[in-house]
Formats: sequence, C-alpha cells, structure tokens
Amino acid sequence: MLLRPKTFAATLLVQLAATSVMAASDPGAAVTRPTGYKPLIGDPVLGEKLFNDKKLSTNGMSCANCHAIHGAFQASFGKPYPHTVGMAKEHLGRKSVYLDEMVQGCMVMPMAAKPLPWDSKELAALTAYTASLQKTFKPVP
Ligand code: HEC
Repeated sequence: MLLRPKTFAATLLVQLAATSVMAASDPGAAVTRPTGYKPLIGDPVLGEKLFNDKKLSTNGMSCANCHAIHGAFQASFGKPYPHTVGMAKEHLGRKSVYLDEMVQGCMVMPMAAKPLPWDSKELAALTAYTASLQKTFKPVP
C-alpha cells in the first residue's frame, strides 16, 4: 500500500490517542449519533476555518495538520457514508460510521478533545467542509 505523506505520523498519533479512548466501556458511544438526531445544514466556509483551527484540540493539532491536501485519508473516504473506517472499527468498535460521526471520532482521538455538541453549528460546518473535500478525493492507486 502506498502511503500519502504525513499518513504514517498521523497513524501513530491516532494509535497513541486511542489508548485513552479504549478505557471507556463503550468507546464508540461518544461518537454515535444520539436518537432522534437530525443533522443541521452546515456552513462550509466556517468549516474551513475550524478545520485549520488548533484551538479545537487539546494537543496543538488542527484537522489540517493531518488532512491538508487529502493527507491521512484512506480509500474509504472515497465511498458514500455510512461506511467502514479502519480507525473507527479498530478503536471505537464501530462497523460503519456517518461523516459527522467520523468528525467526532477525530475530535476524541487525534485531537484529544471532547466531541462537539451534536446540535452545534461547528459540527455541522466541519461536516459540510469535509464533505466538500470528499468530492475531489481520489484514492492513491
Ligand atoms: C493526528 C492526525 C489527525 C488529525 C489531527 C485529524 N485526523 Fe481525521 N483521520 C486521521 C486518520 C489517520 C484517519 C484515517 C483512519 C482510517 O482510515 O482508518 C482519519 C479519518 C478521518 C475521516 C474519515 C475518512 C473516511 O475514510 O471516511 C474524517 C471525515 C476525518 N478524519 C476528519 C477529521 C476532522 C474534521 C478533523 C479535525 C476535527 C480530523 N480529522 C483530525 C488522522 C487525523
């Protein structure tokens, strides 16, 4: 498998961060859509700002540190949601995730932060911006 630049370092960081998440009895609970949840329509412009904002994490990382120019995304990112994401399956026990759930997964694991409130404009915005990145994503052959 060909790795994109930064992917190896990103994966190591995720492994480290996941160790603390694994301690919970259901590590996937915090990233699972609550019952009755209706996704909000997000603002991709705000989403791009947040994507570059290190203040979202507790460890100085921003989403862009790993995911700029499609870094760290695996082939699964090219598929419609919900789908299986290796990290969520291995570390959160989730067989398949929605995009907003995966944003939350990266909030709790690599960003070492709390999940965003489900009804927040921040979660909707990051989801909208990430969806826009998905449109131009082509997996490494
Ligand atoms: C330390 C690096 C790192 C940071 C920071 C990070 N991520 Fe990730 N993210 C990853 C890795 C590695 C994967 C791939 C996991 C896999 O495929 O197993 C991933 C996967 C994803 C996916 C799922 C891709 C798919 O295959 O469907 C989304 C969406 C995502 N990240 C969004 C974000 C957002 C939004 C942020 C900021 C809140 C963020 N990530 C921060 C490393 C990071």
